[in-house]
Amino acid sequence: MKNIKFPEGFKLGVATASYQIEGLPLADGAGPSIWHRFSHTPGTTYNSDTGDIACDHYHRYKEDVALMKELGVKAYRFSIAWPRVFPYGKGKINLKGMDFYDRLVDELMDAGIEPFITLYHWDLPATLQDEGGWLNRDIANWFADYADFVFQKLGDRVKHWITLNEPWVTAFVGHLFGEHAPGMRDIYAAFEVVHNELRAHSKAVKAFREENLEGEIGITLSNHSQSPASQEEADITAAQVAHEYVNYPLFLNPIFKGDYPQHLLSVAKEYMPKAYEQDMDEIKEDIDFVGINYYSGNLVKAEPNAPFGIKNVDRGLEKTEMGWEIYPQGLYEILTGVQKNYAPMKIFITENGAAFKDVVEDGEVHDDKRIEYLKAHFNQAYKAIQDGVNLKGYFVWSLMDNFEWAKGYSKRFGIVYVDYETQERILKDSAKWYANVIKNNAVEAE
Ligand code: FCB
Repeated sequence: MKNIKFPEGFKLGVATASYQIEGLPLADGAGPSIWHRFSHTPGTTYNSDTGDIACDHYHRYKEDVALMKELGVKAYRFSIAWPRVFPYGKGKINLKGMDFYDRLVDELMDAGIEPFITLYHWDLPATLQDEGGWLNRDIANWFADYADFVFQKLGDRVKHWITLNEPWVTAFVGHLFGEHAPGMRDIYAAFEVVHNELRAHSKAVKAFREENLEGEIGITLSNHSQSPASQEEADITAAQVAHEYVNYPLFLNPIFKGDYPQHLLSVAKEYMPKAYEQDMDEIKEDIDFVGINYYSGNLVKAEPNAPFGIKNVDRGLEKTEMGWEIYPQGLYEILTGVQKNYAPMKIFITENGAAFKDVVEDGEVHDDKRIEYLKAHFNQAYKAIQDGVNLKGYFVWSLMDNFEWAKGYSKRFGIVYVDYETQERILKDSAKWYANVIKNNAVEAE
């Protein structure tokens, strides 16, 4: 069997997020987040699931770090729950909440695992929502102040920072589709949120630079490759609009070039906040790396009556349990696109993985499909490196099964199985496979 080898120092890691794994969201003086409120609102999540217990990581973090050490992971991407640190989002500090992350970082350092911290993975302090949340322009200050406090506390040990996770999802799934917290349905709000997220991101980057800490800072963006359904001009344009609307250009164009992408503006200018142009200089701000999340691709057709003239059509590819198409080539397209258009110093794949129906048989989980999925995507990442992409690491989503937002516990993304009754962790075959990948810094070639 032929292997492909990753460059030396390539960071093979795993990723999680606070509300999805920690449990005890109100412990030790923490304030509620919008996800706490949302999931406690009847009818919002599958089976009325909440993050109240999740993987009980808040208690079991030592055991979970030991598990990562056993797997040999080089880096761990996790997020900080803002309302643990600032229960009201601003003002009063809750040192006990901060202390949890302090201990977690120490535990990781002792295990030789590099922490990658996401500052915002969707659990906004609920009291900030009462003041408009991401729709209030002051959020740029609230976020930068919170981020700055965390830089000061952990910046001696943490060298990689991600400001926001998937700001597109916060804006559109949270404010247009109403499926995520805060559950709004308003397209004007969604674009205003995009704009304020960018302002908050850049302000936090500036705060980081002012601290003069050693380390790197970037942002993580969601992506689905968008291929035109035919070579007709209308389909090609529709795919381009879709790409600029849902993928990295919506955020990287402002950050790297100081403007929103043109195809998108041609259909969405009406929704942009008033006088948004005045903020673009401030938003344009150097970052050290781009984080790319990639799970699936879409085939796009022009459809004049659909929103933004875009319609997704089924191309008959195999899908994961999420109903997402398996399209590994799309990862290559996204990575090479980022490299070509913005040439960032570094790119990390901050999430890639898949949900499948997992069954425990005699204490084992034979998740061959997940292994196949990961192998195919690792091959595409390797191809991108060969073709000049500055890819420096790859984080599998997720270390363990967890609270999959509106889908609750019904979707399992982990390479480690979680028995939610007993909180037992069981290594799936994919975890054993991945441990081997990490050990050899190599994957079987396809
Ligand atoms: C991404 C999220 C992550 C997880 C995966 C499956 O959109 O960033 O929290 O839910 O999808």
